[in-house]
Amino acid sequence: MPIPKLPIVILISGSGSNLQAIIDAAEENELPVEIRAVISNRPDAKGLQRANRAGLRTDVIDHTQFDNREAFDEALKRCIDNFEPRLVVLAGFMRLLTDDFVNHHLGRILNIHPSLLPAFKGLNTHARALAAFKEGKVKEHGASVHFVTAELDGGPVIVQARVPITPDDTPETLAARVLKCEHQIYPMAIRWFAEGRLRLQGNQVWLDEQALDTPVVLDADS
Ligand code: GAR
Repeated sequence: MPIPKLPIVILISGSGSNLQAIIDAAEENELPVEIRAVISNRPDAKGLQRANRAGLRTDVIDHTQFDNREAFDEALKRCIDNFEPRLVVLAGFMRLLTDDFVNHHLGRILNIHPSLLPAFKGLNTHARALAAFKEGKVKEHGASVHFVTAELDGGPVIVQARVPITPDDTPETLAARVLKCEHQIYPMAIRWFAEGRLRLQGNQVWLDEQALDTPVVLDADS
């Protein structure tokens, strides 16, 4: 019996390469999702073109048109709710979300972050990881898929990809290797959710009926 497709909405702010990985996996029947809409907070996000090319519905909710975060999040929430998704996927969505918004979708929002959380929350993760490498503090970097909770980049982590750092890396070369891994682990985590294998209970991730004490970890070349 084919698994029924999970209705999802994807939020973006930029290039949308993670969006593309999700579109591709869905088109190749590797991901049982129905992408009901792609929503961007930036009218010029390149990812909107990717969505259009794939024939997906797009919406723009431009944060600069709102007086405050609460008003923006309320408009975003209303827009998302119209599509009745069972999962909201943040794919390079670069806005902080209010607690209200997060709690409205709690257990049904995933994010991908370009670091091995809890290391390097926030911005400029590649340059910060490289600086830490040069100080001998870390040997590897990577990306994490996590459930979104009210704490910024702080929700329980589901899966991580580890990427070794090399002495000749620049933030750009490191970012490119991490991004390649993101394109593997994000569709993977979404598939687990779509297959009913993944859930958040309290602050605990459950995968295949087991509480995950530590995230699933993949190595870059595995
Ligand atoms: C990705 O590296 C993603 O992990 C990061 O933005 C990039 C978006 O790329 N997200 C964050 O930093 C969220 N805190 P994409 O638009 O090509 O998918």
